[in-house]
Amino acid sequence: ARLPGLLRAMPKAELHMHIEGSLEPELIFALAQRNGVALPYADVESLRAAYAFTNLQSFLDIYYAGASVLLTEQDFYDMAMAYLERAVADNVVHTEIFFDPQTHTARGVAMAHVIQGLHKACVDAEKRWGISSQLILNFLRHLSEEEALQTLEEALPYRAYFSGVGLDSSEVGNPPEKFARVFTRCKDLGLRRVAHAGEEGPPAYIWGALDLLHAERVDHGVQAVHDDALMQRLRDERIPLTVCPLSNQKLQVFPDLADHNMPQLLAAGLVATVNSDDPAYFGGYINENFVQLFAATGMHSEQAYQLAANSFEASFVPASRKQAWL
Ligand code: HPA
Ligand code: ZN
Repeated sequence: ARLPGLLRAMPKAELHMHIEGSLEPELIFALAQRNGVALPYADVESLRAAYAFTNLQSFLDIYYAGASVLLTEQDFYDMAMAYLERAVADNVVHTEIFFDPQTHTARGVAMAHVIQGLHKACVDAEKRWGISSQLILNFLRHLSEEEALQTLEEALPYRAYFSGVGLDSSEVGNPPEKFARVFTRCKDLGLRRVAHAGEEGPPAYIWGALDLLHAERVDHGVQAVHDDALMQRLRDERIPLTVCPLSNQKLQVFPDLADHNMPQLLAAGLVATVNSDDPAYFGGYINENFVQLFAATGMHSEQAYQLAANSFEASFVPASRKQAWL
């Protein structure tokens, strides 16, 4: 009975959260009104009713529609402040926030407005609540590598405001090798690297993320359990997986949360972590992910401690600050 309280109260880092996926239906409608953007939904209730996903793509279609209300620097600031306040309430002390610039620049929004709005929110949240954050620019893998390279160039004037890059959107059919050149360039620039791999895609995509994209963490990665050699490598090299239980359930990766393989990942000695992915769409922020996962799988307080420790180890903060957390 005390386990949910421990899960909620323990300090934790969040390492896999798309800021566009934190846009609650209420804020989507408020921003649509503020910006004069027409939405294909009559009201908050009918939008929420559309959140019945069958796979990753069925989610992405609605997620990109929701993001269409974001136009000004203030919009990006307001969205990020709402998430950061919510994260603080869940005792998140450090967060590494994904953002998808191409979703916005394709609609004519300036890169400066996207990054500066998010950055200012991170600065103000740290002043107000003490939470630290980093921004991670994600390339959309359904678009071309040329477009990713172009996006990187547009973002480089704001290099001081993001610590790394990632790869998201439609996984199957868009393998890591498609983005080998842009990630090698990012490595040469000193950017940290993560990539979504093994959410719906095969273990081969995880190998590709590590060997071709120089990924230091794998986002999702739950399909790794189907490849023993890969499991051994992830454990031996302590390559973290940023796992998102409610996302996996809602996108039918594990339709029943009781079947989630987090217990198996931890038992195998992997640096697995719990994260919310797109909390406004998948039914809960990080603490809801912890509480529902533990209730469904029967995990105990030892795994709770392990997951919190893993989240700090897997973060991109300097080693000196990690020591204080661990
Ligand atoms: N997978 C791929 N792309 C995404 C996701 C995800 O879980 N969330 C937002 N963009
Ligand atoms: Zn994700």
